[in-house]
Amino acid sequence: MQRNLRLRHSLVRLIRSFLDERNFTEIETPILTRSTPEGARDYLVPSRSNTGSFYALPQSPQMFKQLLVISGFERYYQIARCFRDEDLRADRQPEFSQLDIEMAFINETDIMQLMEDLFRQLFQELIDVRWPAQIPVLTYAECMRRFGTDRPDLRNPLELVELSDAMVNEKFNVFKKPARAAGCRVAALRVPDAIRLTRLQIDNYTKYVSQFGAKGLAYIKVNDPSLGREGLQSPILKFLSDESINEIIHRCRANSGDMIFFGADLDKVVNDSLGALRDQLGQELGILETGWKPLWVIDFPLMEYDAKERRWNSLHHPFTAPKAESIHQLEHETQNVRSRAYDLVLNGVEVGGGSIRNHQIEIQRKIFRLLGISEESMEMQFGFLLEALRCGAPPHGGIAFGIDRIVALLTGQTSIRDVIAFPKTHRAYCPLTDAPNEISLEQLNELALRIRPSAQTKSKTQGATRR
Ligand code: AMO
Ligand code: AMP
Repeated sequence: MQRNLRLRHSLVRLIRSFLDERNFTEIETPILTRSTPEGARDYLVPSRSNTGSFYALPQSPQMFKQLLVISGFERYYQIARCFRDEDLRADRQPEFSQLDIEMAFINETDIMQLMEDLFRQLFQELIDVRWPAQIPVLTYAECMRRFGTDRPDLRNPLELVELSDAMVNEKFNVFKKPARAAGCRVAALRVPDAIRLTRLQIDNYTKYVSQFGAKGLAYIKVNDPSLGREGLQSPILKFLSDESINEIIHRCRANSGDMIFFGADLDKVVNDSLGALRDQLGQELGILETGWKPLWVIDFPLMEYDAKERRWNSLHHPFTAPKAESIHQLEHETQNVRSRAYDLVLNGVEVGGGSIRNHQIEIQRKIFRLLGISEESMEMQFGFLLEALRCGAPPHGGIAFGIDRIVALLTGQTSIRDVIAFPKTHRAYCPLTDAPNEISLEQLNELALRIRPSAQTKSKTQGATRR
């Protein structure tokens, strides 16, 4: 733990000197603030002097950094503490640190190159590792097609193979229906030398993918692909035509000893389940290459439609600039519009993400409107940012990296808890200080707050189990 914290210290020191040498100014921004839309729930702090009102802790300094750049700090950075009330996992803590960067008069290439230089130096100096001269840049669509995820671990040689167009005339309904339906896909995952997987293991994988909504996990064992149907083994062979079988063998480039798994469903279900299976098999079969495999992911959809809520949501945040020809296109072909966002992914971990921003007020307003934000709440929530854009803003953009995630990668830890002093549990509880804890009646009264009795009992029983 001490080794990890010392490396963390060195990392931050190197980051500061790299950016100082390049004329960046570090500026602190408020912790008691108002909501910043990054997609998580806010941590709220009740105000005593304005009873009934609440501060929100920043999910990121996003709007502050844009204001600073617009006001003339052309190169800003901050090692910023961020707070997000979201479901916690090994790579998520309720409070975490970002390296937050924003710059004026830049495009995607400028910032991506500068950040590559930074990472090259960090890896060289901290763990004596050389980064590749060229980091691959993949589009979101390509990542989803080939890996089922927008943060692929490129150390894993397995890839998804598209079969949708080859299965439209198939009789086997499990494949035919999704092959013909919009928003669905049929894909295969060929796993070399996996024919030895037992029935029990396959059943376990089937159970594993069911948590992502997969209704099954069809598979084919390849004994000898040159024999066509006769050289294969699978419960689904009897449903498939010779033509389909040959196409599967051909597209998957199947070899003797391979196992081919299939996903056929909504895009999301197939991508999530085969993407997760790819990760799982990569680990279990010990086929991950050693070393460091960074990549940039670009061309994300600007927004995604939430069919349940019947509205559009930003994939990144609403300040991200669209790659649209016109406002008309933005409005009428929203589902096709990509964004000027970029994520840096390293060995399957999203270490950072950012974008070129909307510096033109009309585009920013249009995006808020598409997100269903009324004129009134636009002014209330984001009025100060709109005012800054109205005054004339330079083209600008930035990025933020998860410091904790970078340190975890550099030190070989699987959880960011091991690189944070006094981390919280997966229930956002601090076992050391027993936070969060109940407060006195006097404090509640000062804040004009009352706790519902039912909530009190609930939190008490939770407290007991946490300890
Ligand atoms: P984003 O939400 O992608 O972007 O966050 C940037 C990076 O912060 C890290 N991160 C986390 N680390 C630990 N625990 C968490 N709960 C957590 N959430 C995020 C990730 C992530 O890539 N304002 C934008 C950046 C920008 O557009 O400039 C933002 O916050 O490594
Ligand atoms: P069934 O016709 O439902 O018995 O399924 C036949 C085979 O296809 C079984 O091996 C299932 O596990 C598999 N299967 C069923 N639905 C899907 C699906 N949506 N994606 C992949 N495989 C499936």
